[in-house]
Amino acid sequence: MSEAVAPTPSEQAPSLPLTRREFLYYLWGISLAVFLAGSGGATVWFSLPRFREGEFGGVFTIPVDQIPPADTPPKEFPEGRFWLVNVGQQTLTDPRQPPQYPESPGVKALYKVCVHLGCIYRWVDTNDRFECPCHGSKYLKSGSRIDGPARRNLDVFIVEAIDAAGDVLSRTEPAMNTLEGTAVEPPPGTVSLRIDTGRRIQGAFNSKPGGGM
Ligand code: FES
Repeated sequence: MSEAVAPTPSEQAPSLPLTRREFLYYLWGISLAVFLAGSGGATVWFSLPRFREGEFGGVFTIPVDQIPPADTPPKEFPEGRFWLVNVGQQTLTDPRQPPQYPESPGVKALYKVCVHLGCIYRWVDTNDRFECPCHGSKYLKSGSRIDGPARRNLDVFIVEAIDAAGDVLSRTEPAMNTLEGTAVEPPPGTVSLRIDTGRRIQGAFNSKPGGGM
């Protein structure tokens, strides 16, 4: 009885090498997969919020009881770089308020950087206005510029009035006449304000009265 003989290497089935076309095809497939993974990752990265809640650039949630009463001095939120002001009747009828910039009652979040050259202005209680120490621009509590070299009213952040369910009841909108941000009167049911320091509306162009570069 004859024994089975193992095939020699030269007798085994020959391995089929990749053709040039197949090699290029696989290379193209791998490149496409890497590209899709990269662009998908970038999409996810850019869709994530850049800033956390409570840090500048992100959203600040202010309980309704922290809103300053109407016409009282503004309240500073240094970590958010804004002043919260509550425009009431006394502020609306302030004779210094330029008639070109009629205000409406409610809350505004004023960006605390001077719109002239970027200094930090401050609230001066005795003069009932904001004053910039660098070149003397002055702004009312409403955010309207009344003097100095600045050429627009103060910028504001978007404010939203939020109810207990998290729904938005009212929000800052660009005013129709000046395109600067409107004040928000928190409607009944408001439990907090949401200030988005990543969404700023520029103050309206304002070169009067006062001024001079
Ligand atoms: S930076 Fe404020 S007046 Fe110039």
